[in-house]
Amino acid sequence: MLSFPLVLSLRVVATDPISVREEEQNFSTFIYKAGEGNLTFSLNAEKSTGDVFFHITAPESYQWVSVGTGEEMRGSVMWVIYKSSEKMVKLTFSPRLSDGKSEPSYSSSISCSMVDSDSSQNGIITIDSKRYYSANVYCLKVTSLGHGGGRLDLANAKQPFLYAFGPTNKPISSKSLTAGIRRHESYGDFWVDMTKATSNSAEVLSGEALTTAINAGAEEGAESDGDKAGPTHAVLMLGSFALLFPLGAVLLRYFESVKIHWLVQLVGMLTTVVGTGVGLYLGRMYNHSKDVSSGHQIAGIVLLLLVFLQFGIGGWHHFQYRKYKNPTKYGTIHRYAGPFVVLAGIINGFTGFNFSGESENNVYYGIVVGLVLVAVIGMLAWKGWSKKKETGMPRNRDPADGVGLNAMPKSYEQM
Ligand code: HEM
Ligand code: HEM
Ligand SMILES: *[C@@H]1O[C@H](CO)[C@@H](O)[C@H](O)[C@H]1NC(C)=O
Ligand SMILES: *[C@@H]1O[C@H](CO)[C@@H](O)[C@H](O)[C@H]1NC(C)=O
Repeated sequence: MLSFPLVLSLRVVATDPISVREEEQNFSTFIYKAGEGNLTFSLNAEKSTGDVFFHITAPESYQWVSVGTGEEMRGSVMWVIYKSSEKMVKLTFSPRLSDGKSEPSYSSSISCSMVDSDSSQNGIITIDSKRYYSANVYCLKVTSLGHGGGRLDLANAKQPFLYAFGPTNKPISSKSLTAGIRRHESYGDFWVDMTKATSNSAEVLSGEALTTAINAGAEEGAESDGDKAGPTHAVLMLGSFALLFPLGAVLLRYFESVKIHWLVQLVGMLTTVVGTGVGLYLGRMYNHSKDVSSGHQIAGIVLLLLVFLQFGIGGWHHFQYRKYKNPTKYGTIHRYAGPFVVLAGIINGFTGFNFSGESENNVYYGIVVGLVLVAVIGMLAWKGWSKKKETGMPRNRDPADGVGLNAMPKSYEQM
């Protein structure tokens, strides 16, 4: 087994491709034509130690790119590359382990480091005027890492590997090895003939070894993926807090109907329940949310409980009112807590977009919220004003109507 200082001083293989292939080194190279450009993965492994040298180039337009061992995420040893905030290196190489269909986590047990290559630099390079990540990496004892199908077997002529591409619209710029990555926009698998890629010593590859596909292939192309749970959660939660609940309040005033009010708020509440379910499922995918400890998630759960409470208090008030024909303190609580809970929920939408790293959406969301608030306040004020004109009394002094749910409009008694 070699230690890193030794690896760095290894003899660089001759650049003559013929001598590389036939006399010097055994290796395999896989090339996949992805939408944004080629993914190239070349490797060679050392028989006695299980050490592996590999080279990756892949389009920089993906937030991250990764190659991993095995044919599924579970048990895979994944090599993830993304942009660095460091001006010198320009890319971060983060070796990770995965327990399944969720964000893989950095693991210090995977002993890898970038090494110099004479024909390919580490960093961001330009090929045909497109920018590519380029990394040359030496890893110790890879055959002892990962589990299940994710274990590298140097005797396997069809050793499975997988690749994945992050989304294209959200670059990360981080030198942290544990930086959060978003769910892939596509992934796929390929095989490598490890028997042809195994040598007596793993060495830095160069020349044609890095550009010509050999001893590797794929049964099929990439499968497209993407996060659907995030947008679903956003639509359900924003739909209930920014549209349904405010609508329920307006309809109460316009139709003077408690039934319409509670039906709309019931739909809003059920939407919130489903949206929270989706939020809990969504949270399990990412390391930053899987412990349900973020402000956004905790505030969201508290708000869900407050929505239940608000519904219960409203119902209890209405029940009491119908029985005794008298205003109740529950009505007062319901009336003042309502706008508070709804506004807090609307604010939690802003923290949601910040949390998922989509804070640019807050501009559009802010505009929608602004319009909704102006419309709701305008409509309620208009209704209050026209009511006052009709009865000659401010609404909250009208004995037949009174303060909102505190003293009910006439029709409330029929509900
Ligand atoms: C934030 C990070 C990631 C998340 C949330 C994630 C999540 C998921 C999910 C939910 C699936 C199932 C998709 C479906 O059945 O429709 C999946 C599949 C897959 N992912 Fe990931 N993944 C992440 C990172 C990675 C990385 C770094 C790789 C590395 C190459 C990868 C490779 C694959 C592959 C090959 C599959 C299909 C095989 C399988 O189901 O395990 N993923 N991923
Ligand atoms: C008032 C209630 C809530 C509102 C208005 C709300 C809204 C949002 C929005 C707009 C996003 C951004 C979605 C995206 O960018 O795709 C988001 C993200 C998220 N929400 Fe909520 N949410 C609420 C409650 C909750 C609750 C109760 C949970 C779970 C306990 C939760 C979990 C999450 C998670 C895990 C993410 C981000 C995951 C990620 O993409 O990194 N949310 N939320
Ligand atoms: C991508 O790979 C193909 C071979 O699969 C090759 O013909 C093509 O030149 C490559 N493109 C670039 C930009 O490297
Ligand atoms: C390449 O692999 C063959 C067996 O397939 C082996 O005999 C040979 O020694 C290997 N070459 C090197 C440079 O290790």
